[in-house]
Amino acid sequence: MPDYATYKSIFAGIPMPYAFIDLDMLDRNIRDIAKAAGNKKIRIASKSIRSVDVLRRIMRSDDVYEGVMCYTAKEAAFLAHEGFQDLLLGYPTWDAQGVLPLIDLIGEGHVITFMVDSIAHVEQLERLAKRRGVRVPVCLDIDMSANYPGLRFGVWRSPLDGWDSVRPVAERIQASPWVRLDGIMGYEAQIAGVGDRVPGQALKNAIVRYLKRRSVKDVASRREEVVSRLRELGLPLRFVNAGGTGSLASSRTEKAVTEMTAGSGFYSPLLFDNYRSFRYMPAAGFAVEIVRKPRRDIVTCLGGGYTASGAADGTKLPRPYLPAGLSLFPLEGAGEVQTPLLIGKKAEMPDLNIGDPVFFRHAKAGELCERFNCLYAISDGSIVGEYATYRGVGENFL
Ligand SMILES: Cc1ncc(COP(=O)(O)O)c(C=O)c1O
Repeated sequence: MPDYATYKSIFAGIPMPYAFIDLDMLDRNIRDIAKAAGNKKIRIASKSIRSVDVLRRIMRSDDVYEGVMCYTAKEAAFLAHEGFQDLLLGYPTWDAQGVLPLIDLIGEGHVITFMVDSIAHVEQLERLAKRRGVRVPVCLDIDMSANYPGLRFGVWRSPLDGWDSVRPVAERIQASPWVRLDGIMGYEAQIAGVGDRVPGQALKNAIVRYLKRRSVKDVASRREEVVSRLRELGLPLRFVNAGGTGSLASSRTEKAVTEMTAGSGFYSPLLFDNYRSFRYMPAAGFAVEIVRKPRRDIVTCLGGGYTASGAADGTKLPRPYLPAGLSLFPLEGAGEVQTPLLIGKKAEMPDLNIGDPVFFRHAKAGELCERFNCLYAISDGSIVGEYATYRGVGENFL
């Protein structure tokens, strides 16, 4: 593991704030995720990467990595032009200005699959596909949330939660000359996206683990049923996509699943420290500069408030990482322009002076890249390159 002095000397002279990717750790995460895939393929969730250079590095590393789960139509077109193949839109997309260029790319031979969860989605794609005279592949998003009396364990996305609701949409696709069923996707967010080893929450962790165990079985049987009913209907599938970084261990045990999605595990941000079944390396981070010292045991940095999306609680804040032993003030958090940090009483705490960096980790993965034009790529103790982020090449998709 790196230490403060090493990171400080590697980046000496780089103006703060800056973001970085530790390639040695990234490569280890790439290998560990490939191993965790078992005999399934991994589709990379680009929302959790947001850098073409990083996407390429992962894609070229191992045959297990096949295809990208994109997050907007414009992003999918961008990645197609960058040479990425087998693009799955992870979410429904409606706007004709986004969809039509993708239909044109499909017409030219690109493999791009749209996500649908309703007849309305199918009919919109059908109208646009007919306009271009191209038949378009679609993927059905199957809801994998668990419903217990008084408790929804999961997310609100697709209304298709079982064969009864899937069937009419599948039949509508089957009846259409302009769309065809390519695959199904089910994201078990309650397993993949919920930590079950959160420090200081023993009881909650125990409940989450119990709910996860129950829901693993339910998810598998729901997916299996949809796959076999679609087959009976005469609709074979090119892929059955499941999960995310946090569910690789359970999703890979399902026979029906052909591929799993993973993105966050490559950078392994703060929220992915809290899982019992895996621990990846903290490969990405950012540095801000200490600009004042309001008290002997406090340093205040310029910037730092790169808060992650989601329910706005303390878990979405970035946190100081190196040197170890610094903490945010609960009433200030990570600020727009100023972030004060309390210096803990660790024996190995270095002297921190004005002008020194503090290294932070983001709570989530790809969102970090919306704040910086590049990630300084480091390996073996020195900077070896600059990996452009989407923002760095002038792109911003959401
Ligand atoms: C549809 C879908 N699949 C998979 C994932 C998992 O991505 P990650 O591995 O980055 O957690 C997500 C994350 O939100 C998602 O929305």
